[in-house]
Amino acid sequence: MPIYHHLGQLPPKRHTQFRKPDGGLYYEQLFGTVGFDGMSSLLYHIGRPTQVKRIVGKTDLTPAVAEAKTITARKLIGFDVAPQDDFLAARKPLLVNSSTQIGVAAPRHSLRDYFYKNADADELLFIHRGTGTLRTLVGNIPFEYGDYLVIPRGIIYQIDFDTEDNRILYTESTDPIYTPKRYRNHFGQLLEHSPFTERDYKLPRDLETHDEEGEFTIKIKKQGMLHELVYASHPFDVVGWDGYNFPYGFSIHNFEPITGRVHQPPPVHQTFETKSFVVCSFCPRLYDYHPLAIPAPYNHSNIDSDEVLYYVDGDFMSRTGIGPGYLTLHPGGIPHGPHPGTYEGSIGKTGTEELAVMIDTFHPLQVTAEAAKIDDGKYYQSWLADAH
Ligand SMILES: [Fe+2]
Repeated sequence: MPIYHHLGQLPPKRHTQFRKPDGGLYYEQLFGTVGFDGMSSLLYHIGRPTQVKRIVGKTDLTPAVAEAKTITARKLIGFDVAPQDDFLAARKPLLVNSSTQIGVAAPRHSLRDYFYKNADADELLFIHRGTGTLRTLVGNIPFEYGDYLVIPRGIIYQIDFDTEDNRILYTESTDPIYTPKRYRNHFGQLLEHSPFTERDYKLPRDLETHDEEGEFTIKIKKQGMLHELVYASHPFDVVGWDGYNFPYGFSIHNFEPITGRVHQPPPVHQTFETKSFVVCSFCPRLYDYHPLAIPAPYNHSNIDSDEVLYYVDGDFMSRTGIGPGYLTLHPGGIPHGPHPGTYEGSIGKTGTEELAVMIDTFHPLQVTAEAAKIDDGKYYQSWLADAH
């Protein structure tokens, strides 16, 4: 997150004595990424954050792959993934490659029994259904329908859900997830042409500080394994922190669409970028206003990227047979475009209520066994004239 934020108490000078009421020292931790070159924060703990008591074991989270190399367009029925109680068990990776995992989850219960840390990847959670609070060692972020939650690698967190009806699209990225560079100036500030501003961010607040010793389980994802470690001090024992490395939220409903006289290309919808993929938000907006405009997109060849669309709400203008929670994969190497009738049918329409998230990866995606279970199996032929 390229802005400065702080919560709680801080010493006036970094790397100096910062004392507790009883005279003991707080323990400083530099929390950074990309060596000492990326964004970082300085955290002040009551206990030393290094006190591993036991390493209990590990579980392999490597997704089972059904088709490693594919050129088949697919439609996955995301809401057919069954809800599960546990937050991590509920996660079902669907489309994966060496740097990216895209999946859906329907967790029924809050994550309260243990703490979780993804040491492999930044996480991007998109909240399709459900409300609650992301609770982290650097503060809490309330969330609701339409929120993206960006959780940098290494953040220890739990999550509270208000009800059992929760649906999440999640992406894990071994490359850091940033806002697009072209939206930012030399100092990192979002520019006037950006479709969102710093004011739209949901920053961590309500820092929880637990002065407790005992047994605290942290499940840590590292090299695709979920390691279970027991620590001697509470992971949420930070009395204060400052810096640039922290989780934040952003509502898709605060994305301000850019429109034009003729059809605007997908980059105008871009919300996040990594070295491996981009994320775009397709939001309700007015259509193109050239008198002869065709609002539906032209056919396009994503020769060297795979395109994943997650449909959230509203009618998606260029698709038929699509509902909320569906995902489509348009693999690189072959063109795709509007479904029969939607190209012509878009003429004269003045706006759309579509809401969707698009993830375009620069390396091919593999189709997992979980995806095969919810694949409609015939989507690749849906552009034929007699398909509908
Ligand atoms: Fe496309």
